[in-house]
Amino acid sequence: MQTQVGIIGAGPAGLLLSQMLHLRGIESVIIESRSRDAIEATIRAGVLEQSTVDLMVEIGAGERLKREGFVHHGIELRFGGRGHRINLHDLANGRTITVYAQHEVLKDLIALRLRTGGVIHFEAKADAVEDVATGAPQIRFTTSNGQKQLLRCDFVAGCDGSYGIGRSAIPEGSVRHDYFRIYPFGWFGILAKAPPSSDELIYAHHDRGFALVSTRSPDVQRMYFQCDPNDSVDNWPDERIWEELQTRVEGDKFRLKTGPIFQKGIIPLRSFVCEPMQHGRLFLAGDAAHSVPPTGAKGLNLAAADVHVLARALSSFYATGSTDLLADYSRMALRRVWRAQHFSWWMTSMLHRFHDAAEFDLKRQLAELDLVTSSRAAATTVAENYVGLPLT
Ligand code: FAD
Ligand code: DHB
Repeated sequence: MQTQVGIIGAGPAGLLLSQMLHLRGIESVIIESRSRDAIEATIRAGVLEQSTVDLMVEIGAGERLKREGFVHHGIELRFGGRGHRINLHDLANGRTITVYAQHEVLKDLIALRLRTGGVIHFEAKADAVEDVATGAPQIRFTTSNGQKQLLRCDFVAGCDGSYGIGRSAIPEGSVRHDYFRIYPFGWFGILAKAPPSSDELIYAHHDRGFALVSTRSPDVQRMYFQCDPNDSVDNWPDERIWEELQTRVEGDKFRLKTGPIFQKGIIPLRSFVCEPMQHGRLFLAGDAAHSVPPTGAKGLNLAAADVHVLARALSSFYATGSTDLLADYSRMALRRVWRAQHFSWWMTSMLHRFHDAAEFDLKRQLAELDLVTSSRAAATTVAENYVGLPLT
């Protein structure tokens, strides 16, 4: 089997890349270990930056997103029992965010890619990436019926997420350096059948820990609260969850609208960057190269930004033979990655309760929240970063 760009992973990074390459006349094949059904049912992120929405529209995947996504002009930061609005639209030059679930993005991208002749091998697991330092790298993979296959390509895009195999083809130590931060807490996430409690997302700081009120549709709501990463969903019957969430968003007579919870899960929080994001003819994009704690809502958006840079570099190579943009990929992508790492770490440390925090730290957090909700300059920093930097 042969193609121009071999892509591992049909997540947001792999699918967006494949479609962008297709529009530039470049052929690709995607190897994906999970089934289409499993991908389309996995609940993950929900906030799309303005430039991610623009990218979806530009590549022809924006129709349902434009119709069903919810454009939000602001967010609320809640602390000390009161809500404070950050007006994203006014502070960030008219830019906004759109709430549209990641698995809906994936449904749209998979349908589009297949409709436009894309090749996606589902339930095919990449086992190894080889010969990346030569002009002819290859991906070894195993199909759903156990057949061993080889995909020869000009380039490999490792879009295989945090636990993929792409990254391991960059020699650790001599070439690759990994930067880590593990947080001592996780997020308990729920989906509930209930009406929205608020018109905008609420990020709440509370003595008992962080809480986030988000939405999915007029009758499905998404909420999270800071928890012990080793806790179990079995310890949390619906009633206890609603009580905990309500306590953490208390004040101003604000009441959450509750309903049956039909999905519960715990995710760990970590910050991770792998440098460089390229080695020979292997290019990493999205979670394969970095993860951010979800407080900044950046994970999916960073994946989109990476492949935007990569698609342009690959298309410049195929159009002119120049490797200049390819050679610059890691530097370009990492600049945005570290900005997003900083913002995600900042939002996380400002809003979460750390077990070892002294009374001083709590007071300092409240002062910082006071600053970002009362100083226009500080609020602008939050807004500009939250809606996302323009794609470069
Ligand atoms: P992924 O979406 O992980 O896609 C990688 C794909 O590669 C997967 O489909 C995987 O099956 C496939 N793959 C892996 N290994 C192989 C292999 N060997 N062979 C073939 N295929 C392989 N971000 C937010 O901003 N907000 C959130 O609330 C949020 N919640 C999250 C919850 C969870 C449980 C997780 C894991 C992530 C969450 N994120 C969130 C992060 C966000 O979802 C990711 O940043 C985003 O999915 C990154 O896209 P990606 O394409 O790089 O990777
Ligand atoms: C959602 C997830 C996030 O990580 C976030 O910061 C905001 C909203 C969501 O799933 O809706």
